[in-house]
Amino acid sequence: MNNFRFYAPTDIRFGKGQADCLPEELEKYGKRILMVYGGGSVKRSGLYDRLQELLKEFEIFELPGIEPNPKITSVRKGVEICKKEQIDVILAVGGGSCIDASKNIACGAFYEDDPWDLVLDRTKITKALPLAVVLTICATGSEMNNGAVISNEETNEKLEMGADVLYPKISICDPTYLYTLPPAQTAAGTADIMSHVLEQYFQPCDTAWLTDRLSEEVLKTCIRYCPVALEEPENYEARANLMWASTLGLNHILTAGKGGAWSCHPMEHQLSAFYDITHGAGLAILTPAWMRYVLCDRTAGRFALYARQVWDVEAEDDYQAAEEGICCTESFFRKIGLPSTLSEVGIGREHFREMAEKAVEVSGIAARSYFHLGAEDIIKIFESCLG
Ligand code: NZQ
Ligand code: ZN
Repeated sequence: MNNFRFYAPTDIRFGKGQADCLPEELEKYGKRILMVYGGGSVKRSGLYDRLQELLKEFEIFELPGIEPNPKITSVRKGVEICKKEQIDVILAVGGGSCIDASKNIACGAFYEDDPWDLVLDRTKITKALPLAVVLTICATGSEMNNGAVISNEETNEKLEMGADVLYPKISICDPTYLYTLPPAQTAAGTADIMSHVLEQYFQPCDTAWLTDRLSEEVLKTCIRYCPVALEEPENYEARANLMWASTLGLNHILTAGKGGAWSCHPMEHQLSAFYDITHGAGLAILTPAWMRYVLCDRTAGRFALYARQVWDVEAEDDYQAAEEGICCTESFFRKIGLPSTLSEVGIGREHFREMAEKAVEVSGIAARSYFHLGAEDIIKIFESCLG
């Protein structure tokens, strides 16, 4: 088990009605709020009105229209408002896209130049406005981590940024806000949670026993409850368990004692950078293909463990168990309605090389991942997903 630092400064308020604490909590930072939200789901669900009512004693400025795969152009607008209106605290209402845009805005508010610089070079992030979150989709874990992923349409780049000052101060995780989530987003969010867990489970160090067992339970939680949430969108137990799985999936507890670079995420970020597809859908396509590509004598034991622990596969032979586990993963994604080929999401081979080279350039996939992959390997994985 490797040495590790586990730092989790975010105050999580989980459950029905938890937003009621917001006035008292936000008051600590000041009266001027920038509310950041997406394309309208918060208005349709009534959450926007509820928050306006709750926060009527505050002065609220708004940045609506944050797009999925948030763009630097939206971040720039937010930074401008923060500087002009002397915002005290940012309130992100939505999912990973709103939270991530808000993180970039929060540090951009203290930076005199273009906030894209802070994505390119995290050493330039020195200070950030406090960030509060009201979560409406469970997927990224951004509600309890210090990372953000921002896209630049001009350069087709989608890059990660991160700094300790970007941890949300408080996140409201009320599972009833997930009731309006459409099936496609419920499924894509689940694939994202599962991918986060798998990225941490399949890492060079495999002696972090406790961490691995926790990971398996988070995966089983997704497998158990996603179909229930799809069948019964207002099933509290299902939504609540998925919501907590999302937070645990990427608050770094599942990486304790492990370590190394990720594999499917660097590849997927290229797909969503070039084609603006839903992150979780891209992961559902790539994950089984990645598993098949890296299955070999060295990895078969670990894949067999995954198959037996998570999918109750009984095969005694490691290779056979591993292959069955991969099939189970693939059919689960299909069962919850996610695509399994790149053609289904309109992606052809035209940018394969460019995307593969970029994935290698901006991540540790070629040198520090579970199974090192160069650009040629990534192209082969993309090709195997064409369908
Ligand atoms: O924009 P609105 O109208 O709000 O609709 C959103 C959006 O279209 C909708 N939605 C959210 N809550 C809803 C709802 N619709 C109805 N009812 C609700 N309660 O769902 C759509 C997707 O929202 P988005 O915020 O984009 O989803 P998600 O949380 O999956 O975030 C994806 C982004 O996060 C990045 C991804 O790459 C992608 O850019 N990631 C961030 C990470 C992080 N910060 O740690 C890690 C992840 O690996 C990931 O890369
Ligand atoms: Zn993800």
